[in-house]
Amino acid sequence: MPERPQFVPAMAEIAREAGALLMGYFHRRVKVEYKGDVDLVTEADRASEALITRRIRERWPEHNIMGEEGTRTEQGSEYRWYVDPLDGTTNFAHAYPVFCVSLGLEHKDERVAAVVFDPTRDEMFTAEKGGGAFLNGQPIRVSVVSDLGECLVATGFPSHKRHKNPNIFFYHQITLKTHGVRRAGSAALDLCNVASGRFDGFWEFNLNPWDTAAGVLILEEAGGRVTRFDGQPFRIDSQETLASNGRVHEALLKEFQAIFSREGLEELPSVAEYVKARK
Ligand code: IPD
Ligand code: CA
Ligand code: CA
Repeated sequence: MPERPQFVPAMAEIAREAGALLMGYFHRRVKVEYKGDVDLVTEADRASEALITRRIRERWPEHNIMGEEGTRTEQGSEYRWYVDPLDGTTNFAHAYPVFCVSLGLEHKDERVAAVVFDPTRDEMFTAEKGGGAFLNGQPIRVSVVSDLGECLVATGFPSHKRHKNPNIFFYHQITLKTHGVRRAGSAALDLCNVASGRFDGFWEFNLNPWDTAAGVLILEEAGGRVTRFDGQPFRIDSQETLASNGRVHEALLKEFQAIFSREGLEELPSVAEYVKARK
């Protein structure tokens, strides 16, 4: 069988160029527009996507591309790119330095190559199917924590659907069962942070293919596990993403099952009682 071409070096070059472009806008502060109620977009998102799609088309003119800011190129190729030109737009718009560029590549519906570049920390996460995961060229592995009670985990709240899923209950329950839950605002970086052992797990409702395509491969290549909330295999169009170091996956699935069945839940603290006892 002919070997698959190596994509990561070129992908990293494209992500680095897009990251530099984002930093230029970041330092100038950019005008924010609204796609939905609280779904922000900036000219930086669009300029980054234009640059990335131009670079992909220069090198691989026949490939399909799906980009968050509207790029849809369908030309019957076996390859498909998922482009998030700026993951963490809300952070970016508020000058909170947690955002990245995320590029995932599929071949015949299989994830084959990925890069996630954080230009604020100059961190380049990369993975090629079967070749392991790397941070700035050094191999990375998930953490070895096996007790949920000792985990630091992460989640996110999809901006345009913030009030339409029950994640706040999950946030509450999982906070009580772990060292804590972070909500940093970039799903692609959350996945990479599990891959590199900084977090032990991550979950989110309603992510899009461009949020997960790269981070999921990087995490799997770093030895992690990704499923739906019921343990079924993760798919690119899954509405549920549960990622972990593998060792605490079953424990997380058990917590999720308990929350869904509303068994053994800790009550949310009552605001009325707090007000009554207020001094
Ligand atoms: C968002 C970020 C955020 C997640 C949202 C995503 P965007 O992507 O990944 O962490 O909670 O669900 O939509 O809009 O900044 O590219
Ligand atoms: Ca995103
Ligand atoms: Ca985005």
